[in-house]
Amino acid sequence: MSSTVMVVGNGGREHALAWALAKSPQVDDVVVVPGNPGTANEPGCRNLPIAVSDLDAIVAAAVDHQVRLVVVGPEDPLVAGLVDRLEQAGVAAFGPSEAAAQLEGSKAHCKAFLLRHQIPTGAAATFRSADEALAYLAGCDEVPVVKASGLAAGKGVIVADTMAEAQAAVVSILVDGRFGSAGAEVLLEERLHGPEVSVLGFCDGEQFSIMPAAQDHKRLRNGDQGPNTGGMGAFHPSPVADQELLEQVAREVFEPTLAGMAAEGRPYRGVLYAGMMLTSDGPKVIEFNCRFGDPETQVVLPLLESDLLEIFEACRNGELATVTPVWRNEAAVTVVLASAGYPETKSEPVPIVGIDAAEQQGTKVFHAGTGLDDTREVVMATGGRVLAVTAVAPSLAQAAEAAHAGADRIQFDGAQRRTDVARETAKVKQ
Ligand code: AMP
Ligand code: GLY
Repeated sequence: MSSTVMVVGNGGREHALAWALAKSPQVDDVVVVPGNPGTANEPGCRNLPIAVSDLDAIVAAAVDHQVRLVVVGPEDPLVAGLVDRLEQAGVAAFGPSEAAAQLEGSKAHCKAFLLRHQIPTGAAATFRSADEALAYLAGCDEVPVVKASGLAAGKGVIVADTMAEAQAAVVSILVDGRFGSAGAEVLLEERLHGPEVSVLGFCDGEQFSIMPAAQDHKRLRNGDQGPNTGGMGAFHPSPVADQELLEQVAREVFEPTLAGMAAEGRPYRGVLYAGMMLTSDGPKVIEFNCRFGDPETQVVLPLLESDLLEIFEACRNGELATVTPVWRNEAAVTVVLASAGYPETKSEPVPIVGIDAAEQQGTKVFHAGTGLDDTREVVMATGGRVLAVTAVAPSLAQAAEAAHAGADRIQFDGAQRRTDVARETAKVKQ
């Protein structure tokens, strides 16, 4: 059997996936499409310059390279049906089908599914007409959360504090087309309160296996201040996600979701990411993602002792019951370094120093928004989230200190970083 696997994507999550797959004794060659300078340098990995959006070229390359398994990282190609296209071309692929990925691709569809299967979630109404949405708002006692239904690169949710803000959000999405076709439909969802936790599971269409829970830091600045981001850091273990909670989420969310998807003819294979809010009425789903989280992957995969390829193939083949993922009983922390303009604007490329120094201290540095300069010698920060520095240690406090010490070694102009990742939780003095 071929020992080449392909990873689709170019972020920190995909660097972590490629790094973990390269450790499999069954894998000699990890082809990352298009990858980044981190995956280009990773032992056993190489990049192939094809855009994530060029599904035809990805399928052709997977056939050409006689790839054993393709692992699709981001949501866009999953929702666009890359897994179906690969399987039709005779290439095994890990990830949900187009039909199953609509759990993330359409929040309206997801909400209807959750309600249909009595899976705990907030009440919501969906609208295509701004007039109808505004009339509904006028009748609300509490300000609802405004959500564009389609994929909006993580920006489609507006948690408004006043009715005027919610009205403005509705108009900007449905009238001004702020999110293009992703905003053709809007959800007005009951605002929930409580701590948030993400629970991820490997799924094979019927069975699932919950991963160690990672908590992320969504706000840009220390103390949960500043704008929402894709995630400025993450850590495991999370004090809110104890074993009892994970069992409850498995029972109340994963079981009915997998059963419901199978019953509706769209069995869910791949990673299911349940974004949960822990309300006084129990955990409720605020979103499903059809993929690994970023930066959660950068803390979870370094804890995996088992062969990741074996787990992915078992999921794809409906045989998850035959493998038991083994996890290290340790803590992990990842600290993200982002470019100057993140999350609002792009930044000019600037050189990065200190990546090797951080790794010499025992951290693992995953690349995301990096590139090479014209000499192809200097690693540059090219915008967005640039690097994620991960440390694994016996305690959360030790992992936090190690990850922050690694991140301290890395510098580039305008770097933004939180210095409180995992520290408040770990009760470590800053
Ligand atoms: P999402 O893009 O769905 O992850 O939403 C982004 C953020 O909006 C979440 O992480 C929550 O903090 C917040 N959010 C989403 N839905 C709700 C809700 N129903 N009530 C309160 N906050 C929400
Ligand atoms: N860290 C949040 C996400 O991957 O959606």
